[in-house]
Amino acid sequence: MPHILVTGGAGFIGANFVLAWLRNSAADGVVNVDKLTYAGNRKTLSSLEGDSRHVFSQTDICDRGALDRLFATYQPRAVVHLAAESHVDRSIHGPGEFIQTNIVGTFTLLEAARAYWGSLEEPPKSAFRFLHVSTDEVFGSLDANDPQFSETTPYAPNSPYSASKAASDHLVRAYHHTYGLPVLTTNCSNNYGPYHFPEKLIPLTIANALAGKPLPVYGDGLNVRDWLYVGDHCSAIREVLACGRPGETYNVGGWNEKTNLDVVHTLCDLLDELHPKSGGSYRDQIQFVKDRPGHDRRYAIDARKLERELGWKPVETFETGLRKTVQWYLDNHAWVQDVMSGEYRNWVAKHYAA
Ligand code: NAD
Ligand code: DAU
Repeated sequence: MPHILVTGGAGFIGANFVLAWLRNSAADGVVNVDKLTYAGNRKTLSSLEGDSRHVFSQTDICDRGALDRLFATYQPRAVVHLAAESHVDRSIHGPGEFIQTNIVGTFTLLEAARAYWGSLEEPPKSAFRFLHVSTDEVFGSLDANDPQFSETTPYAPNSPYSASKAASDHLVRAYHHTYGLPVLTTNCSNNYGPYHFPEKLIPLTIANALAGKPLPVYGDGLNVRDWLYVGDHCSAIREVLACGRPGETYNVGGWNEKTNLDVVHTLCDLLDELHPKSGGSYRDQIQFVKDRPGHDRRYAIDARKLERELGWKPVETFETGLRKTVQWYLDNHAWVQDVMSGEYRNWVAKHYAA
């Protein structure tokens, strides 16, 4: 059976991608390469136990020898690279892991892929693809009236996280330009949906609301993000992998610009409807807290290239996607409790102490 090799497939987007891939396509198996950091969770993949189309390997993408063995064994027709340190606040507290995984890890994976690809005969050589999943944060911050980020917006990353992702994007680009490696890059806006680790705004708000804890809103709450349901991001990745032009980059977004306060209010209103609490609204738990250092004011994606060239459009609106997400967290309390382990509690204590 042909395989694709997915990195970071036990994380939020990676696991959603692997689950959807195996639901939608019987043609390729998945070699799932994940180090299982605090953000990786095998329980998310438990429905794949016993499914011979899914091979899981607990591997660090900085381990060249292990990567070479995986390429040699499974001869993947493509790589979908999602493994990363992904949380901006953690990158501010400790950037080292971000440099290691996002830059050194991507470099190591590119080197392993280049060696493997170089050894292929035609036609598999021309058909091979390396799809790098990146972020809109590499473009920096927009003012209220600026046009959205397009594929030609200059890079201006502002946090250690976004700088490390920008560095990885540049490496991927260079491997195409210099070596001809058939790469594709996607730059996506903020995702939300099932299996989202509760350190990020949306799952943190839901988990804290249900636990009766404060709902922390940074600064004035008026920073803007452009939200995309994770299932729509996964369909965009599949589309770009199938039909994207090697060497091109594609912006992925949901046309859903919202202030953080709007997002938190909407979540509270949905919880008030779906899981009412006695004596008031979840909005009463909102607390404004110290701002994130260097907090980017606004992200917004112009996703017209992806629609024009590959016909991709998001299916979910913010309203339908958020309602599904809240319901998922209400129905999957055990998953949330499981990931809120000792390490998670240490992070919350350290980050929100002030
Ligand atoms: P996540 O933090 O939930 O998951 C990351 C996964 O990578 C985890 O399973 C982790 O164990 C694994 N990993 C970390 N370091 C590794 C290493 N050295 N070797 C192998 N595996 C390692 O992240 P996510 O939110 O699912 O994001 C996935 C990708 O999408 C990232 O590249 C991120 O930059 C990008 N992205 C995320 C968003 C978003 O809103 N979450 C938006 C745009 C792009
Ligand atoms: O734009 C894409 C990026 O989106 C991805 O590249 C990142 O991997 C992903 O984590 C996400 O980054 P953000 O920093 O935008 O996501 P986060 O959920 O951490 O924060 C969203 C907004 O909410 C941001 O403006 C900060 C704010 N926030 C966040 C937390 C955790 C709060 O106000 N309170 C909080 O407690």
